[in-house]
Amino acid sequence: MNNEKTKNLSSDIVIELKQVEKSFGEQKVLDRVDLQVQSGKTLVIVGASGQGKSVILKHMLGLVLPDAGEVNVFGQNITTGNKARLKEIRKHFGVLFQNVALFDSMTVFDNVALPLRERTDLGEEEIRANVEEKLEMMDLGGAGEKYPAQISGGMQKRVGLARALVLNPQVVFFDEPTTGLDVHKSNEIYRLFYLTQQKLGYTAVIVSHDVPKIFKLSDQVALLANRQIQGCLSPEEFQLSDNPYIRQFVETTMGPIYSSDREESNLYEKI
Ligand SMILES: Nc1ncnc2c1ncn2[C@@H]1O[C@H](COP(=O)(O)OP(=O)(O)O)[C@@H](O)[C@H]1O
Ligand SMILES: [Mg+2]
Repeated sequence: MNNEKTKNLSSDIVIELKQVEKSFGEQKVLDRVDLQVQSGKTLVIVGASGQGKSVILKHMLGLVLPDAGEVNVFGQNITTGNKARLKEIRKHFGVLFQNVALFDSMTVFDNVALPLRERTDLGEEEIRANVEEKLEMMDLGGAGEKYPAQISGGMQKRVGLARALVLNPQVVFFDEPTTGLDVHKSNEIYRLFYLTQQKLGYTAVIVSHDVPKIFKLSDQVALLANRQIQGCLSPEEFQLSDNPYIRQFVETTMGPIYSSDREESNLYEKI
């Protein structure tokens, strides 16, 4: 999959950070960050906790403004304070964050329907068809009338994924989507990610600690270290890079690469 998908590296850029700088008080988190997300591809951002990975996603979503530099989405600068433009752009985004943030008082069906009700003029019948399609896709066919408290953590994540995809977004952001899940349930989330991306063709930006497993699903890997992006490389190039930050990351986090082969082959047998 990676080889096929990395061939066309000159494809359209959907998101671009240019020389982005961001501090919170005295603490500089991002220093001249350059990063590009290519259409239809999967970019994985890795790095130690607290480095600013979520802050990068928040810049892409227009939730945080840079102190300097630019964030371009679909060719438009979103840092100008133009709220109408940002709202329009966000219609094409789906988000699955670490804490899925389902509404406890709403059924699974209503949770997934929410973006359709808030952001489109679709009637109830079309909403039902859309939601049921996404619930089926997530193996949640019978769970629509349940409440979040009545389903498992893994199912809640799948509801979150269904909700993230219900508007058929062009770009989907995942911020540590498998946090708190065991290996089996994490694999299930990644399997559904893979299947839905094949089916719906969205661009994905994923922040993940599931290294090296996540590399199998990525076209490009970017390491955030020392306030900057260290390489935005194919997974193969990343693992062979001479960049000292990348080398250190690979050595400290990828020790178990061989022992995890069996677990990975299980994951791909199901696809
Ligand atoms: N809104 C904020 N106000 C103050 N500090 C923040 C804010 N958001 C993030 N930070 C700080 O920026 C750093 C990077 O945060 P984050 O992007 O969440 O890290 P990561 O996702 O890589 O673990 C952390 O030190 C965090 O405390
Ligand atoms: Mg984070």
